[in-house]
Amino acid sequence: MYASEGDVLRLDKYISVSAALTRSESQRTIRAGRVAVNNTLIRDPAMHIRGDECVTLDGNVLSYSEFIYIMLNKPAGYISATEDARPGERVVTELLPPELLRRKPFPVGRLDRDTTGLIIMTNDGASAHRALSPNSHVAKTYRFTCSPTLSKESKAMLERGVDIGEVDSLGRSLLTAPAIVTINSLGSEGEITITEGKFHQIKRMFTAVGSKITSLSRVSFAGIALDESLPAGEWRYLMPEEIEKFTSAGRGKAGM
Ligand code: URA
Repeated sequence: MYASEGDVLRLDKYISVSAALTRSESQRTIRAGRVAVNNTLIRDPAMHIRGDECVTLDGNVLSYSEFIYIMLNKPAGYISATEDARPGERVVTELLPPELLRRKPFPVGRLDRDTTGLIIMTNDGASAHRALSPNSHVAKTYRFTCSPTLSKESKAMLERGVDIGEVDSLGRSLLTAPAIVTINSLGSEGEITITEGKFHQIKRMFTAVGSKITSLSRVSFAGIALDESLPAGEWRYLMPEEIEKFTSAGRGKAGM
């Protein structure tokens, strides 16, 4: 079912979404007699669909889903915005094919231009909003390299919380929330998991302990791990269990 009980959907919208066609391509396809609903050929694009019918295109059963959920491995040099955000900049939506862009996906949260790795793209605004809400405390894990190397004391400070210049509504200094940090024996690389999403947060956290991030890559968001087989610049659909993690993030299931 695509909608709450009692809702209806036009056949041309159904075909355009489920077969990745424009609305006019979908209407032409229907008028050409290529679409059947419950085994009856339908040529009326305005026919109303409830969602429990069997709809076929050229004999192939279609399935309708209101939302799309995509995992993108962001390369460096792209900004996390939609195509109309900043003229002249390379934006992550350029990495998706036109038929997907018709569904209007947007990046869930931002990675800096030089940060690589996992970005979820979706057109499910409500779930994205929940996942990004500061109250949701959704965990994000980043792989980093840094210089100068991180001492055990600095690691412990990052884990406890550091002052990155944030203040509360009364102007009092706020520390970052507790983080989980693992480092190699040299202190030059590791992973950090945070549950906030302040501007340049990790870079500012490392600056606060006297180090500097030299590379940053997100490897997990809300319990969804970046698919290691996905080359930089490539995308794939989220799998059902990943969609479940994403849509339940912020409902109390995705923290650290
Ligand atoms: N923290 C940063 O500093 N940059 C990012 O892109 C993400 C988290």
